[in-house]
Amino acid sequence: MQKRYLEKVLIIDDDKEYCEILENTLTVEGFRVESVYNGEEGLLRVQERQYTVVILDLTLPDISGMQILKRIKEINPTMQVIIVTASDTVGSAIESLKAGAFNFITKPIMFDDVVVAIKKAIQYREKTKQSAQDLLEKEGKVLIGCSEPMEEISRIIAKVAPTDTTILITGESGTGKEIIAHRIYKSSKRKNKPFVKISCAALPETLLESELFGYLKGAFTGATSQKKGLFEVAQGGTLFLDEISEVSPTIQAKLLRALQEREIKPLGGTQDVPIDVRFIAATNKELKEEITQKKFREDLYYRLNVITITTPPLRERKDDIPLLVEHFIKKYKPTKIKELKRVEQTVLDCFAQYHWPGNIRELENVIERAIILGVGDTISISDIPERLRKADGSYVPTIKRETDSPDIPALDDAVITLERNLITRALEKSNGVVSAAAKLLHIKRTTLIAKMKKLDLK
Ligand SMILES: Nc1ncnc2c1ncn2[C@@H]1O[C@H](COP(=O)(O)OP(=O)(O)OP(=O)(O)O)[C@@H](O)[C@H]1O
Ligand SMILES: [Mg+2]
Repeated sequence: MQKRYLEKVLIIDDDKEYCEILENTLTVEGFRVESVYNGEEGLLRVQERQYTVVILDLTLPDISGMQILKRIKEINPTMQVIIVTASDTVGSAIESLKAGAFNFITKPIMFDDVVVAIKKAIQYREKTKQSAQDLLEKEGKVLIGCSEPMEEISRIIAKVAPTDTTILITGESGTGKEIIAHRIYKSSKRKNKPFVKISCAALPETLLESELFGYLKGAFTGATSQKKGLFEVAQGGTLFLDEISEVSPTIQAKLLRALQEREIKPLGGTQDVPIDVRFIAATNKELKEEITQKKFREDLYYRLNVITITTPPLRERKDDIPLLVEHFIKKYKPTKIKELKRVEQTVLDCFAQYHWPGNIRELENVIERAIILGVGDTISISDIPERLRKADGSYVPTIKRETDSPDIPALDDAVITLERNLITRALEKSNGVVSAAAKLLHIKRTTLIAKMKKLDLK
């Protein structure tokens, strides 16, 4: 028997018979093999243990293989995933490659093919043993930005990461809350322990409760075995509670207790389990408002809000756009192509004018699309969506007011829009020469500069 490979392999597949045969084949080849037969157990395993390779069935009875793949890539990008799929679902297999799978194999399976694929995955991992930073960059887990707000955030992260303080991250959707949570974790002394993320909006109440707190055998109908909750999975590490505003009152009460007492009680249990977990929570809602509306407990808010990090929307830190564009061009560069794409100046001008309601996520999607659909070595104006081409910088974030009426805009909003339009036109007419534009507008040059600064015009 060859004992060359003492690497750990996990099989996640609901076909038990197939698992058994594959397990035998791989054990004979010298791998250490484990099998689980559903997605939920699979998720737990990959969170708890290190595997070199995971053989993952895309169609599982409970959770989709795709979700598991994404989770694996979040927890440990170096874990290689080989997808097993029916031949009529090759489309989703290709999707899985995009999401980071190493390769896919179609059913019916030739066991030799699996062995070859695993060996290749191991070789690949060895070959690409890049520095941790490189890998993080590839996975999009580095925090890009040199604008003042981003530097401030980096300073806060550096200060709070080494402590065990609970942190609340607030900000619009797509502004990088999750990436910041991850960065805090990576800079903390818990960095070699688990980082467990749960999106509180994604699961119905009862499921969220059992996911978080776990249960004992017989706790409810269907609880045929004991299950560890995420608090315990995260033991020693960091628990990231995403979209915390969506948690129901019952779970809010339980979370409060977990935060206060540092103990939890699994469902159906009588014993408290001590927990050693660092909490990071995130929300894109205004929690203060949720409190006023009695949707969120004030005491829980104060427990979470020991330190708050507020991520600014992209429109308030447009200085970061060129850096982010470069970062995403690198991230989405097809491996076969050597050169990085360049970006036409007019495209960057449109980016600077646009108001980016979807923030960095939207910018990332725009670049990814331009790289996939565009031809040649330059991203040009025809590669970006229509809405960006039309951006004229006249967007003003609307602040809802009592007096809002569809036909009468708030006066200061209207004034800002008008100012912005006139200044932009004057600058265009004078080819960007500020003193000439000021003359056209009959105002002083310094006044124009001040106004441009206020309106974020270049
Ligand atoms: N500063 C940044 N540098 C590099 N990439 C970033 C940065 N901020 C965000 N991103 C990228 O933008 C995308 C969205 O970020 P993220 O998921 O962290 O946003 P979010 O605030 O959690 O959004 P949501 O509220 O919708 O969950 C991700 O792909 C992330 O990698
Ligand atoms: Mg998020």
